[in-house]
Formats: sequence, structure tokens, C-alpha cells
Amino acid sequence: MATYRIRHCEQLSGEVSIHTAKNAVLPLLCAALLTREPITIERVPMLTDVETLLEILSECGVNISRNGDELTLWSDEPQSPTSENLLARMRASVLVMGPLLARTGYARVALPGGCAIGQRPIDLHLKGMQALGAEVHLTPGSVTLQGTLHGGNVYLDFPSVGATENILLAAVLAKGSTRIENAAKEPEIIDLCAFLNDMGAKISGGGTGTIFVEGRESLHGCTYRPIPDRIEAGTILCASAMTEGSVLLRGARPDHMRALLFKLGETGVTLRESPAGLRLTGRASQPIQVRTLAYPGFPTDMQAPMMALSLCLRGTSVFLETIFENRFMHAREMVRLGANIRIEDRIALVNGGHALAGTTVSSTDLRGGAAMMLSGLVAEGETVLLDPAGHIARGYENLPGMLRSLGADVTVEEIPGEEIHG
Ligand code: UD1
Repeated sequence: MATYRIRHCEQLSGEVSIHTAKNAVLPLLCAALLTREPITIERVPMLTDVETLLEILSECGVNISRNGDELTLWSDEPQSPTSENLLARMRASVLVMGPLLARTGYARVALPGGCAIGQRPIDLHLKGMQALGAEVHLTPGSVTLQGTLHGGNVYLDFPSVGATENILLAAVLAKGSTRIENAAKEPEIIDLCAFLNDMGAKISGGGTGTIFVEGRESLHGCTYRPIPDRIEAGTILCASAMTEGSVLLRGARPDHMRALLFKLGETGVTLRESPAGLRLTGRASQPIQVRTLAYPGFPTDMQAPMMALSLCLRGTSVFLETIFENRFMHAREMVRLGANIRIEDRIALVNGGHALAGTTVSSTDLRGGAAMMLSGLVAEGETVLLDPAGHIARGYENLPGMLRSLGADVTVEEIPGEEIHG
């Protein structure tokens, strides 16, 4: 449970280093279920989503050893997790399904609970496992899969990130070759493919719409440093643009952020890439049109922080959310600060450029919570951001500290308590 206090800030300036990507690390940790040899992941970010997944993996029989921010994991005899409560707390926990099934021929997992940002079904994950030869039994609240996996052809009706990862994590140990068509192309998928290949897998086509996997009898251990977090980097860039700041991001990968960087450029700010990092300077003034899409389109995870930025842009900005059906909850909270936003189904119209006034608002979900922290930076006076479910700390390692190091006045009070994850 956390309460943040954010005071109006004139201008952000300075440098920050970008942490490792949460969405890259989570599937890598699940790959520990694929081999008895140790895998070591470097620079693991300190996030509650990582801790929750480690608890789940530990229930699955994975041994975990920590050395600073380096984690080493290995599993002699993996098994299905027993506590449904933990799985229901976090959607990415469904990624234990593919590797457990491939390694042991059996997996039973609780169905991830409905998440605040949409229904988020797992039908594409199950369709993929069936194509690899698994029998699927759905019971209320859980799913059981069994069978010796063989290669297969999978077509995803939508390029789902999670389904592509789960199928990859299964196909690497299936007998024969697998083809995943309409696969997700996110940088996190390319990273997972590179990591699995370091473990001895044979995957080609990662990052394109068709991925080929030649199944292996066994995989071995490896040491790996995952990619930096493009969403954390984008969130800091939005904060800088909102305050007419000058911020240097160290360790970001601009090549993973093209759609966002083009949109930021359209607002009028200047972006410069150099060996030192990615620098944003100048004033964001022009309203924008954003349509969220699968990669390389504009990421849905950046929609909320970008909406916070649009509050500072004079004129009407338009947001079309095509990935999740309920991802404008933060707009209601922005209105509490005085923002002028109209929602029509999956479209949000933001009439920006008006003064905002600090008040008490809530963190509605992970990215929505971060967007509210950004909004507080430009609201007059003090904004109190309530985050009883701990959404922000799920996916940002010390966001208040990063903003403080750039000159913002953001404090946090942590009250110990049970967290409820979406
Ligand atoms: C991942 C990211 C999340 C990001 C999302 C979209 C992680 C841990 N999370 O989530 O931050 O917002 O990608 O970029 O990496 N769908 C189905 N059936 C399925 C699976 C998905 O209909 O079996 C739908 C979802 O309801 C949603 C869309 O596909 O509308 C995208 O979901 P997906 O790409 O699977 O997102 P996640 O992997 O859950």
C-alpha cells in the first residue's frame, strides 16, 4: 500500500539510468522450469511483480539464489503451483504453463482473474498448446493440460505477447518443429528468443510475424542480461516533455521506442541520440493523435503516460485504444485534477492546455498510476495519489526516486499490507 505526495514542479533536468524491462524479465524467469541447470539473470529490477513470480516459481519447485540484483534459478523436479491466490494476483503467472507442460507433460494453473484493464482471456495460449498436442481440460477457476508435446503449426488470431511467449516456452522442448504465425514482434519476444537460444534452443524469426522452433531434447543453463525497459524510459520522457525539461536517459534503447519517439517529436520537443544516451529537451505544444497497436505500433502501455502529456498540449488530442477494452480509467482521475476529457467507447478526446489543480486521486492500474504521478507534476499545489493496491511498484523500480533525481518533489509513504494485483 502506498500514498504518494507530488508537488508542482517547474522543470525536470538531469540524467537517469533505465532499469531492466519487467516484461522481458518475467518470461525469462519462467524459463527456469525448462532445465535442471542454473540460469542466471543479471540486473533484475526490484519490482513486486518479480517478487510475486518468484513466489510462484518457488511453489513450482524452482530454487532461487540472489546475489545483489543477479538471480540464479534452477529446477530439479518442477511441479504445478498449488496456491491459486498467487496466480490470480498476476496475469503473467500463466507463463509457467508452457514450460511446465513441455518439461513434465502436465500443468495445472489457476485462470488469471479478470484484470482491471480488460478481460484478458487466455484462449490463444490454450489454442497454441493444443496445436502442440496437449489435451486441455477447463474447470471453473483453473485449467489442466497434459500430453507429450510435438511440433505444430499455430496461427494466432491476434499477435498476443503472452501467447507467443508461452508457446515458445513450450515448443523449445517439443519433439519436432513448430511454426507460430501472426506472432507478436515486441522487443521482449526477440529477447526471449535470444535467451532461449543461449540455453541451446533453436529458434529463428523472432521479431517477425513467423517464428520457427526446432524442438530440443533438453536445454542447458546460461547467463543473460535482458533489455532495458522501454516503457519506463517512455514514462520519464513524457514527464520531461510535460515540464519543458532537459533529461538524459542512460541505457535506453531508442530502436525499441520508435513509435513513441515519433509521437513525442510531433508535440514539438527535440530528441537527440548520442553515445551518452537519449536526450529530450524543449517544449511540447502541439496536440497529438495516438492509436495503440501491437509492436511496432504505439504501445498500449504508453497510452496513459502520453495522455498525461496531452493535458499540457493546447488543443484536442485524440487517443484510440485498440488493444484493451477498459484502459481509460486514469482519465476519470485526471478529470478530478481539472482536465477536460471526453470518452466515447475506445476513443478519448483530451482538450489540453488548461491549468490543473492538485487534489486526492487514485492509481487505477500500473500505467494509469504512473500517468497520475506525472499529472501531479504539472498540477498546481499538492496532489495526493492513493495506490492501496501497490500498482505502481509492480512495474516501476522507484519511480518517485527517479523523478526526484531530476528535481521533482515526490514523496511516498509505504504502509505494509496485502497487495491486490491486476
Ligand atoms: C503484455 C504485457 C503488457 C502489455 C500487453 C500488450 C507482459 C507481462 N505484459 O500483456 O504490459 O500491455 O502485452 O502489449 O509482457 N488476448 C486474447 N486471448 C489471449 C491472449 C490475449 O484475446 O489468449 C487479447 C487480450 O485480451 C488483449 C490483447 O489480446 O486484448 C493483447 O494481449 P497480450 O498481447 O496477450 O497482452 P499480455 O501478454 O497479457
